[in-house]
Amino acid sequence: MSQKLFETISLHSNENPLGPSPMALEAIKKYSQDVHCYGSWKPQTLKEKLASKYQVSPNNIAVSAGSYELINLIIHFLVNRDEEILTFDNTFMAYSYNAKRNGRKCVISNMSGLECDLEDLIPLCGKNTKAIFFANPNNPTGTIVTHDSLRNLLETIPSNVLVVADEAYYEYVTNESYPDSVQLLKEFPNLIILRTFSKIYGLAGARVGYGIASESLVETMEEKRLLRSINILGKKAAEAALDDVEYIRRSVSQNSRGKEYLLKELRQLGFAVNDSQANFLYLPFHDNNQKNSVYQTLAKEGLMVCDLEIFGQNNSLRITISLNEINQRIIDCLTQIKK
Ligand SMILES: Cc1ncc(COP(=O)(O)O)c(C=O)c1O
Repeated sequence: MSQKLFETISLHSNENPLGPSPMALEAIKKYSQDVHCYGSWKPQTLKEKLASKYQVSPNNIAVSAGSYELINLIIHFLVNRDEEILTFDNTFMAYSYNAKRNGRKCVISNMSGLECDLEDLIPLCGKNTKAIFFANPNNPTGTIVTHDSLRNLLETIPSNVLVVADEAYYEYVTNESYPDSVQLLKEFPNLIILRTFSKIYGLAGARVGYGIASESLVETMEEKRLLRSINILGKKAAEAALDDVEYIRRSVSQNSRGKEYLLKELRQLGFAVNDSQANFLYLPFHDNNQKNSVYQTLAKEGLMVCDLEIFGQNNSLRITISLNEINQRIIDCLTQIKK
């Protein structure tokens, strides 16, 4: 076996291929001396930094051990046993998965294409609906919900229904009709915005996410969050990464270069790939065999993409946009299949 079979490249979890921000790494090194200590109860400095970035009060910021912790916490503590959550079929599986784990009913709206159409949720919103979850950009399809459609949903549904806009990839978005959700929050206190340090900030393993929401929802989320669930290295790395403007700029430009290259080459090879507002591309296939063959061919080269069977989508793959040389390896490999 050749050496390269042992070197796998992660293209399945939408991590930043540039690695962590150099400033975050510095902070981790510096504070690693302090890991014998618990650190403060509340991540107050991080809350303040985020508050100043978004021009809200620190009381509007709930920091968590990854946004995943907040998704679980919202479902567990803000949705009662007899209430339901509402989401889409081809979206981030954490919403339906956590509903199931917590014994909450999850009503699913079937998407007719790659977009999460919030209008489709309105007739499904019943007396037991407590929270609506959607990812924007959507994972795995890379499409966005617009400002107008989010506003329309918020204006139409009852104000006691929580609307959770999971904006894990928001730093990559270039489409101008993307929502200014922090602005909408001022009008609609039932909106909860989720963001994370796991994607563009390159800190997936450090587990830091946050929510932006009304003071009363933040208070509840903080009260229910496991005491000390955020570790000091993650907290310090996140604070430093927020200041690493140059790294964020490089990450955005690397992603947009990689996206243009992959879109062009994949389309030339005949793949029906859609544009994406995030750091991954969605690849649909005619059938399961065709998808499996592409997956296996890439895997043999150590290129590990995401088989969306785990999302309940049997005929599609999701590929994280990577560094130029890796993107090129993906194309070289797929060119062999098409020959
Ligand atoms: C839409 C979406 N939300 C949340 C997450 C999880 O983020 P975190 O690492 O902050 O828990 C992911 C990770 O893939 C994601 O795609």
